Amino acid sequence: MSKYKPNKDRYDLMEYRRCGSSGILLPEISLGLWHNFGGVDNPNVYKEILHFAFDEGITHFDLANNYGPPPGSAEENFGKIIKKSFKSYRDQLIISTKAGYRMWDGPYGEWGSKKYLIASLDQSLKRMNLDYVDIFYSHRFDADTPLEETMEALDLIVRQGKALYAGVSNYGPQQTREAIQILQRKGTPFIIHQPRYNLLDREPENGLLEILENEKIGCIPYSPLAQGILSNKYLTGVPENSRAGNPHGFLQTSQITAEVLDKVKALQTMAENRGQTLAQMAVAWLLSKPVITTVLVGAKNKQQLKDILLSRENIVFSKGELKQIDKITK
Ligand SMILES: NC(=O)c1ccc[n+]([C@@H]2O[C@H](COP(=O)([O-])OP(=O)(O)OC[C@H]3O[C@@H](n4cnc5c(N)ncnc54)[C@H](OP(=O)(O)O)[C@@H]3O)[C@@H](O)[C@H]2O)c1
Repeated sequence: MSKYKPNKDRYDLMEYRRCGSSGILLPEISLGLWHNFGGVDNPNVYKEILHFAFDEGITHFDLANNYGPPPGSAEENFGKIIKKSFKSYRDQLIISTKAGYRMWDGPYGEWGSKKYLIASLDQSLKRMNLDYVDIFYSHRFDADTPLEETMEALDLIVRQGKALYAGVSNYGPQQTREAIQILQRKGTPFIIHQPRYNLLDREPENGLLEILENEKIGCIPYSPLAQGILSNKYLTGVPENSRAGNPHGFLQTSQITAEVLDKVKALQTMAENRGQTLAQMAVAWLLSKPVITTVLVGAKNKQQLKDILLSRENIVFSKGELKQIDKITK
């Protein structure tokens, strides 16, 4: 098989936004490997997605210790593709991973202790065949571990050169404020927050976005399509090959209620009027906000990612449209 050669025009195809007040720029669209890159997935398909992404100027790939299934397999598979396709391009990539959710048995296999975070990143680096990741996240807030300890682990990881930058994910506004204070005191480069944020989940608007904006911390919203609900696929039932129809999918059919589908239908009509698919409008709506650095999407195949990349053709929303979106979704 011939060796992968990236598209030489890739950097003309993508816009990059500064991540908070840091030195790095992230592509407007980033790719996450939570689903579709695990041991149960087809290597030819995910390899094609990753090659296509990089060819389109997507330089940021997001992982976590537990992505799969089985947990760890997405990092392992990604490691193989780095070795085969991206080895000469490592310096052109921003790779992130996280620890917070259950990874191994016993009391040290999850949450936010220094013991767990340090051990987990060492395992992730081995699985991915990397010397360092660009961003390492505390994946969730741990109310039972002093925040000072979790942040100390992030600081140590950066000082050891195992990650270049630190981030947090799923932290609420107050937890984020405290994390900022601790990391500022330590001089740790805390540059990014990864919250769930989409048209149907507006929680970050209750304080978090304001903090990120004021503190100049980057924001990378995940599940921008609400795991695929923000598309037309569930309007006439649950397709077998969808995330909700897949036994390995995290999305439960119980989340796709009649109330949710009414909102999806109304949003779909709006998207049609804008000349976009609903999936494209969902991503465009996030990109229209200056606080958003990059939108972290998932894709089952190259076609889905291609479709999402077209979101960038119209990211302007009139005041009337924004009001209508609020009326439908809030
Ligand atoms: N920090 C955290 O706690 C956390 C949690 C979750 C995710 N994340 C990160 O965020 C990334 C993205 O999350 P996500 O996968 O939930 O994002 P998402 O973009 O909301 O959902 C992706 C899914 O939507 C469907 N889809 C994608 N493009 C489509 C298109 N053009 N038209 C119709 N359907 C489309 C596909 O599902 P079908 O299979 O149904 O087609 C795809 O797998 C993850 O990979 C991970 O890196 C982080």
